[in-house]
Amino acid sequence: MGQTVFVPREIEGGETRVAASPETVKRITGLGYDVVVEAGAGASSRIPDDEFAKNGARIGKASDAGKADVVLKVRRPNETELKGYKSGAVVIATMDPYGNDAAVLAMAKAGVSAFAMEFMPRITRAQVMDVLSSQANLAGYQAVIDAAAEYDRALPMMMTAAGTVPAAKVFVMGAGVAGLQAIATARRLGAVVTATDVRPAAKEQVASLGAKFIAVEDEEFKAAETAGGYAKEMSKEYQAKQAALTAEHVAKQDIVITTALIPGRPAPKLISAAMVASMKPGSVLIDLAVERGGNVEGAQAGKVVTTANGAKIVGHLNMPGRIAASASLLYAKNLFAFLETLTDKATKQLAIDTEGELVKPTLLTHGGKVVHPAFNKAGAAPLVDAKPAAAAPAEGKPAAAKSSSRSKKSGGKA
Ligand code: NAI
Repeated sequence: MGQTVFVPREIEGGETRVAASPETVKRITGLGYDVVVEAGAGASSRIPDDEFAKNGARIGKASDAGKADVVLKVRRPNETELKGYKSGAVVIATMDPYGNDAAVLAMAKAGVSAFAMEFMPRITRAQVMDVLSSQANLAGYQAVIDAAAEYDRALPMMMTAAGTVPAAKVFVMGAGVAGLQAIATARRLGAVVTATDVRPAAKEQVASLGAKFIAVEDEEFKAAETAGGYAKEMSKEYQAKQAALTAEHVAKQDIVITTALIPGRPAPKLISAAMVASMKPGSVLIDLAVERGGNVEGAQAGKVVTTANGAKIVGHLNMPGRIAASASLLYAKNLFAFLETLTDKATKQLAIDTEGELVKPTLLTHGGKVVHPAFNKAGAAPLVDAKPAAAAPAEGKPAAAKSSSRSKKSGGKA
């Protein structure tokens, strides 16, 4: 009998994704595990139980979690789910631990070894496990699809016998993985696209996708990227200059898509209510940062708000979950790739080296304790830039250099 991997049906927050696919079930079985998938786990991602069963899974119940050595999840387990797990079980999920100290502590108390996939270092070897990239890429695409659906005009320029329809103007704020895919998607739909970021590396990537780069390019901008390839929080002075430039530009836009995030910090406020008020009726703003406080003033999590001047601010939660059938396949692959590194090929058993290059940065709780350096001060979870610290020294290459080829790939071809 091999060890058991359990894949539950997600129960938190209307989650539509699932942490395994028929392909990964087959491959996990190939590693020597018995796989149990909860009935209906893939239903919202259009994966019927049969497909899992055909690839070697047994279809089970939620209570099968109690026998599992590994639980693969999309979201952090809640207290009820934790009660059903055996002590010592490995739980791999997107843990969303910042600001959720009690939930992290609960996992420690339950005795599970909880891995936060979003802390995976951004090194070449771990790209296949990068859930932030796989999900943000689809979120960026979906943002444009949602924007086009809310917008009641055409995106491409159309020259017809009856007259010309002008192309929509789309402005993308934050040109990371999601932003670059949003740029590529909006361009494919024929919009005139501009974009901004505070990292200088983004300038060339934006241009390579055929969009115009707009930013305050001062000395601070030239130093705004961390060794891990992420943005820093900008000074008050920079923010004021950025706001002035943004205000002038936004008034002329039809669609604004914001994706700006700073690891471990609240999302920067980039669009004020006054800027929204300056836009034409029918304009659309999609705030992909809404779950982290939002980039757009007035954005409400989970809602589409129509402003007094007739603009719409879209604050959908869980963008990847809106394109679940695609998102689950990629997410499942990310988790499989990580599980493979935790498995001893010879014994076909879990073999976790707590000092390992991928384990150390991602392991949140282990042996009844919170072990991650960002969270192990009882009760206090300092807001720290954990990901860049983990990624910086990898393989002696600057992360930014690797980032750019990666981003072009995710933005341009996906
Ligand atoms: P993210 O999701 O943390 O942030 C999104 C974007 O918002 C970033 O480009 C950031 O610079 C930008 N931003 C932050 N504050 C801003 C502000 N005030 N105004 C305008 N923009 C602002 O970042 P994401 O998408 O995870 O990517 C960060 C970097 O990591 C990118 O360079 C990306 O290409 C790179 N990357 C590297 C990988 C690797 O080497 N394995 C894998 C994936 C991404």
